[in-house]
Amino acid sequence: MEKKAEKRRIVLVPFPLQGHITPMMQLGQALNLKGFSITVALGESNGISSSQHFPGFQFITIPESLPVSVSEMEAFGPVEFLLKLNNTIEASFKECISQLLIQQGNDIACIIYDDLLYFCEAAAKEFKIPSIIFSTTSATHKVCCCVLSKLNAEKFLIDMEDTDLQNKVVENLHPVSFKDLPIRGFGPLERFLVLCREISNKRSACGAIINTASCLESSSLTLMQQEFGIPVYPLGPLHITASTRSSLLEEDRSCIEWLNIQKPRSVIYISMGSIFEMETKEVSEVANGLGDSNQPFLWVIRPGSKPLPEEVSKMVSEKGFVVKWAPQKEVLAHPAVGGFWSHCGWNSTMESIAEGVPMICRPFDGEQKLNALYIESVWRIGILLQDEVERGEVERAVKRLIVDDEGAGMRERALVLKEKLNASVRSGGSSYDSLNELVNYLKTEQK
Ligand code: UDX
Repeated sequence: MEKKAEKRRIVLVPFPLQGHITPMMQLGQALNLKGFSITVALGESNGISSSQHFPGFQFITIPESLPVSVSEMEAFGPVEFLLKLNNTIEASFKECISQLLIQQGNDIACIIYDDLLYFCEAAAKEFKIPSIIFSTTSATHKVCCCVLSKLNAEKFLIDMEDTDLQNKVVENLHPVSFKDLPIRGFGPLERFLVLCREISNKRSACGAIINTASCLESSSLTLMQQEFGIPVYPLGPLHITASTRSSLLEEDRSCIEWLNIQKPRSVIYISMGSIFEMETKEVSEVANGLGDSNQPFLWVIRPGSKPLPEEVSKMVSEKGFVVKWAPQKEVLAHPAVGGFWSHCGWNSTMESIAEGVPMICRPFDGEQKLNALYIESVWRIGILLQDEVERGEVERAVKRLIVDDEGAGMRERALVLKEKLNASVRSGGSSYDSLNELVNYLKTEQK
């Protein structure tokens, strides 16, 4: 039976860190534009200070025993934090949904939750509400999690002492080899694999939404579909379909005026996303290398970052432009920007490709190395810097990207991908069609 879309409400449960909130809010806006009402369920420590950016969205609070913040995650370690969070918050989420059902006359079309928050599934099951998993990372990463979820930690660690096994390509996942599986930065492997099993377990979910596009990751999407065995909806890049102002920090737009007076494709934009920061030694090497390259640079140094040594700070503000938080999508779209020095978070990766900007990849942890591998070896639109970097290497990388023919080739390929990504969200494109399939599913009574 068809129900009028505008009467149907969707509950979104984002993981409240910037890299997760942004795509979830974009998804909310895309579904709102298709006629759904949106409720966002957030813990008390959510970082979103007001709902004014999202007119028409309803916000509800899940009382939580464990505040979600970078410092809290660092204190427990991310794996223990997530396992504990999922264990402790289930009951209060059920209570929230039960209240909401009373308010909504029992009509909730679906609960869509960040894949890190698998506790949501229990409430969906109890109240017989369809649920959909939302993944904010790449399809390749999801497939790697499925691979990891089937491993035995002890055996894997012994296997990884053998170089041949380290370099063995993961079945159907070329060029990802076993040493590339994203396990670093998560503490003891055994506990991390427990988390992978929880996250890869679809439980009773009816589908999985992922913020990627088939032109980027067609074969990984096929594998993901096989692994999950439920419909997979690749809707990305969501930031093109539905841009929202979801920054948790205030954007400093003065950098756009500065970009306006720089030469076309000359500027290196440097940002490490919303969580990670370089060590002081690396900042100093990067700053000096950038200075030696004679290319202008725009650098995001977030509030609370380690203070720069005085001479570095002086040089950076003389030769470049520093902001605490940039309007990143606008920066990447600016004609003066020639390259993006990035930690390769998935949002930054897609935002860069969507503007045809080639990258210098300096990944930290988790799936960022996997994204960097794809940027350098699969899409061939960037340069990966590994191990310790020193100023000479930084200078060479910047020149290769901005000045040399090699960089021009990367830019050309990035521009081809830009076209493909933009086409995927236009009428008849793969992500556009996927969104319509999802909407048709949500509009139909599922109970
Ligand atoms: C986290 C993880 O670290 C990342 O690996 C995962 O893929 C997503 O979740 P984060 O590290 O913050 O995300 O990186 P990223 O995914 O790139 O997201 C950062 C977001 O902040 C981007 O949407 C970017 O546009 C925005 N941003 C960053 C700004 O708007 N201004 C800035 O100055 C810096």
